[in-house]
Amino acid sequence: MSELSETTLDKVPVHVGIIMDGNGRWTAERGLQRLAGHRAGVENLRAIIRASVEFGIKYLTVYAFSTENWGRPRAEVRGLMRLLAEAIEKELAELNEQGVCIRHLGHMEGVPGNLVKKITDAVEATKDNDRLILNVAFNYGGRDEMVRAIQSMIRDGLQPKEITEERISQYLFTKDIPDPDLVIRTSGEFRTSNFLMWQAAYAEWYITPVYWPSFGKEELRKALLNYANRERRFGKTSDQVKGS
Ligand code: FPP
Repeated sequence: MSELSETTLDKVPVHVGIIMDGNGRWTAERGLQRLAGHRAGVENLRAIIRASVEFGIKYLTVYAFSTENWGRPRAEVRGLMRLLAEAIEKELAELNEQGVCIRHLGHMEGVPGNLVKKITDAVEATKDNDRLILNVAFNYGGRDEMVRAIQSMIRDGLQPKEITEERISQYLFTKDIPDPDLVIRTSGEFRTSNFLMWQAAYAEWYITPVYWPSFGKEELRKALLNYANRERRFGKTSDQVKGS
């Protein structure tokens, strides 16, 4: 039984997306370098993955590096790439043990060859796990994803009447992954930042001022409890939803 149901929570979202923001401000408050914040962010991600498994979340999508993040200072970009490579090396065995299946959302253009190999190998090594599907949005952008989908549909010779919402979904990196029910953004920013732009159309959003490195298991529990108390209407009225 999920740990959350013991605390009367019976509506755990199937798919949670997280915009892990605030690493830089977390370090600024402590007089540290920005990379120390990203390192603390990776440590926290580890804890949040474990908590997600315990809470019974089936899909967790984390925004690790956006198509826009290439514009950051070179040293920071290089540092983030190195951190991801190290995290895969260090954590793969434990993730496998926990039954975590790693998937990559995004494209590999511009990504260093050694990291491409690490990501591809990690995806392959965990492909049969099904306790938690961990989607790592890395070199990902919602607009970029949409452009690629349209290009592929044209390449495949689809006719206008064949272009439906379901068909578009099948051309996205998230093909075969249910839409997110809940998207969490840490550090108090009210922006979507090109994250799961199509898929999050009807997601519930939870914005917290807590910086990502401090967003631990108890903060995740709070977000899930908050979600459990919401009514999802998908454009309908409250009466309709209650009557259904
Ligand atoms: C946003 O904080 C965070 C990122 C751009 C990177 C998120 C990555 C991790 C938590 C580590 C896991 C991923 C990899 C690639 C190893 P920010 O730097 O924008 O914070 P700020 O807005 O306070 O400056």
